Amino acid sequence: MSVVDYKRMATGLLVSLPFLLLSVVNIPLGVASFIAVFALFYLKKFLYTSLLSLVFYIIAVMVFYGTAYSANPIMGLAYMAIAILLPLLIYGLDLKIAVDTYSQFISPTLGIGSLVLMFVPFPGPALGLGYAVASSIVSKREVFSNYWLPPLGFIIVYLTSALFTETPIGAGLNHTVLSMQDLLVYAGVTLPSRPLYMLALFGSFILAVLASFVIPKSLLIKREMHVRSMAVMTTGLAVHLASVIKPFSLQPHARVNVRNYMGVVKKFVSYLTHSRIVLALLISALAGLILSLPLGLWSLLALVVSGIGVLVGVYAAAYVSDLDTLKSLFSGILVDVPNEQELEQLFKENWLVLIGMDELKDRLIKASMAFEDIPGVRPIHGMLLYGPAGTGKTALGIGYAAWLGLNKGFNVFIVRAGRILRGGPFDAAHRLDLVFQLAEAYQPAVVYIDEIDALGRVRESPDAPTYLTTSVLLQDIDGIVSRYAKVLVIGTTNNKDVLDPALVRPGRLGDMLIYVAKPPKELVKKIIVGIAEQKKVTIPSDLLDKASETLETGADAESFVNCVALKEKLGLENELPECLQAVSTGLPAY
Ligand SMILES: Nc1ncnc2c1ncn2[C@@H]1O[C@H](COP(=O)(O)OP(=O)(O)OP(=O)(O)O)[C@@H](O)[C@H]1O
Ligand SMILES: [Mg+2]
Repeated sequence: MSVVDYKRMATGLLVSLPFLLLSVVNIPLGVASFIAVFALFYLKKFLYTSLLSLVFYIIAVMVFYGTAYSANPIMGLAYMAIAILLPLLIYGLDLKIAVDTYSQFISPTLGIGSLVLMFVPFPGPALGLGYAVASSIVSKREVFSNYWLPPLGFIIVYLTSALFTETPIGAGLNHTVLSMQDLLVYAGVTLPSRPLYMLALFGSFILAVLASFVIPKSLLIKREMHVRSMAVMTTGLAVHLASVIKPFSLQPHARVNVRNYMGVVKKFVSYLTHSRIVLALLISALAGLILSLPLGLWSLLALVVSGIGVLVGVYAAAYVSDLDTLKSLFSGILVDVPNEQELEQLFKENWLVLIGMDELKDRLIKASMAFEDIPGVRPIHGMLLYGPAGTGKTALGIGYAAWLGLNKGFNVFIVRAGRILRGGPFDAAHRLDLVFQLAEAYQPAVVYIDEIDALGRVRESPDAPTYLTTSVLLQDIDGIVSRYAKVLVIGTTNNKDVLDPALVRPGRLGDMLIYVAKPPKELVKKIIVGIAEQKKVTIPSDLLDKASETLETGADAESFVNCVALKEKLGLENELPECLQAVSTGLPAY
């Protein structure tokens, strides 16, 4: 592994670029915020990167409206309130989603970057529009956020500040910017009063959208001749770009090849050309451009620059959908996604240590044939390992998941019920669903859920805290997208009776119900001897016989041998019988 992660560095530079551009108008603020945002991003502190960028945005608002404030405190405060409260509401929501769902990714920072760019001279705001769309693309890719929030945030802040202040935020101070009013005045268009102007702005946009449904496209070209349409179309384009990012949702069949950046771009372009509304908007925007020279050149520049911003989003989307990146970012947050080395470790510690379970292991390995695309054979959806405590269910389940990862190329997702359940039933159900979305997008995949009774309890009353997680399990294990999806869910429990009956039927976990029984006496002895061999300890034969008589499960055996190993290492051979007493009576041996 190289010391410097160039890919992360490049993405970090793109994400923090808006803050660097801020130094065109305020050098200390621009440089300080750029360094801080870039450094936090590079250190993978994504959540703090977002929060810090929001802080820098607020500082920028205060700096920029400082003069307005000294001239007229009330108006100054009003300007600041618009610029701060709206983004706080919108990004507060975005960040709340990010925090609640453990998304600690890039999209909120890109979104705030889009707001920062409103302060930068033209074509800063155009790039900002692109960054808003970029944030939208990425947030969809991150699965965890709302793709419409960033462009909506940008457009609302921009237009509202245009409505209430003399110049939009984007006007910066004494800079030539993409101010629609400026452009229109320059073009000799007499402006209606501000509210009417805004009404016309929003109204013509809505009309254009409606028209794209009703009127043939060829006619649209003649209708959208006004220069103002150009600006509106650009805005509309952003809204629609934001709403057509569907191919970027993590659907197995709409999935782009995550290692192929061009694949992402092609998918995006092909979706654009299939979208009627966006096509209509593009045609009318082009018509507006051609008919409104020389202003059209400025608009063209704005389009090109906002296009660059969109490309940032495509790049960042490819980055966050790269499975290696995903693994390194996700692991341990929502779900564990072990890498190759960790899988080997898990396989060794769980599968290989199990003694006397060869028949069961063979069965599991044979069952993996169901994923080999044999005509007429549907992949197994689920498997439940149930039985008394300490019989090796967890070890067998994790071991099998690791085996599938190592030998069949499965992506392994290890769910911790505790992490899923944090924050209440709605969050829990949402998080669980996200895990399945990930598994579906990265199939073949195996989702391992230990103690699944914590999430899939019988649905007695709709008020029960686990009602929703049970519903999610029922829907997602059945294969919402396709019954042929290669997603295997392995659950373990020692309390099968509390599971929802629908969860253990065939087609769900009931595809393979495996009872893991307590080992018979002669096997207990084999297990003790086997574990002793693994741990390189010798057990006196009389103690071994006694232990084989009293101990009941593999977990008992493991604990007993561990105790013996420790006592022998400490030279306390005379205390060895206590190890047996400890396991069978619960008295402390240490
Ligand atoms: N057959 C076995 N051979 C060797 N070791 C075993 C065997 N069965 C269990 N063990 C040991 O016992 C430990 C505990 O087992 P495990 O956690 O898999 O039990 P479990 O069935 O999941 O129990 P619970 O129902 O309480 O969760 C394992 O890590 C392993 O070291
Ligand atoms: Mg267990």
